[in-house]
Amino acid sequence: MSNRIVITSGKGGVGKTTVTAGLGIALASRGLSTLLIDGDVGLNNLDVVMGMENRVAYDMADVLAGKCRVGQALIQESGMPLYIMPSAHAMYSEQIKSGDFRTLIMRLDHDFDYILIDCPAGIEGGFHRSVSACEYAVVVTTPHVSAVRDADKVLNLIGSYDIKGVSLVVNRVRGDLLARGEVMTPADISSVLRYPLLGVVPEDDAITVYSQLGRLALSDGESGKSFTMIASALVSGSRKLYDPTDRYRGVIGYLKSRLRKNA
Ligand SMILES: Nc1ncnc2c1ncn2[C@@H]1O[C@H](COP(=O)(O)OP(=O)(O)OP(=O)(O)O)[C@@H](O)[C@H]1O
Ligand SMILES: [Mg+2]
Repeated sequence: MSNRIVITSGKGGVGKTTVTAGLGIALASRGLSTLLIDGDVGLNNLDVVMGMENRVAYDMADVLAGKCRVGQALIQESGMPLYIMPSAHAMYSEQIKSGDFRTLIMRLDHDFDYILIDCPAGIEGGFHRSVSACEYAVVVTTPHVSAVRDADKVLNLIGSYDIKGVSLVVNRVRGDLLARGEVMTPADISSVLRYPLLGVVPEDDAITVYSQLGRLALSDGESGKSFTMIASALVSGSRKLYDPTDRYRGVIGYLKSRLRKNA
């Protein structure tokens, strides 16, 4: 039986799709069969972020319309047990009923160790559909006040669903700002929101650059390390969190931090 996890946020653009893809790669790298589902009907980009959009033959709409078998709509990342089900490109969000979406996810439940659903921005139908199909929720925020405030709103909303566990991922954390005490720490955010931290992901230029090229550099580099740690937290309950300030400690770190400040 899989762990069905919805990756959501209050504010849009804080990194749901990035975290879904990075965590999916990290779980599959441990040999765990993982399915990523794009909950963003009509406006999806998980397949683009994963560089798989040219391999999409069938999507969720085709499965729901009975035009193909569910297995035909899954694209596998080569060399690892990682699969993606692209969202329904040719449908409007309102055309996909929550019940049908949930039935589809439940049919796949026994075939995977983890199913991650990349929730669409906002709290309309797509949010309801994605959260209703899951048993766990991960709320992504950044250390910005507006994102934290919106995370609080969405956490309240999640409270009205039948969800077993909720945790937080703080994304785009800059180690230099954190080391200088210029932004809220992930621990502060967790205590303000009153939910446990599952992980911390650093601001990583590689993510910005590669996402523009339609590929993610999520399995290596600093963000890759952070996703590996999040996978460990999920799988084995490890409490180790990525520390973005590591690189800004000591004399060399201090100089790096000054250089970034003046850049
Ligand atoms: N840790 C990071 N470091 C650098 N860039 C990042 C990081 N996380 C996300 N980004 C960039 O921020 C942008 C938004 O990320 P993403 O698409 O994952 O957010 P989202 O929450 O899924 O957005 P939406 O609400 O529109 O679905 C992308 O260009 C992505 O490359
Ligand atoms: Mg997204």
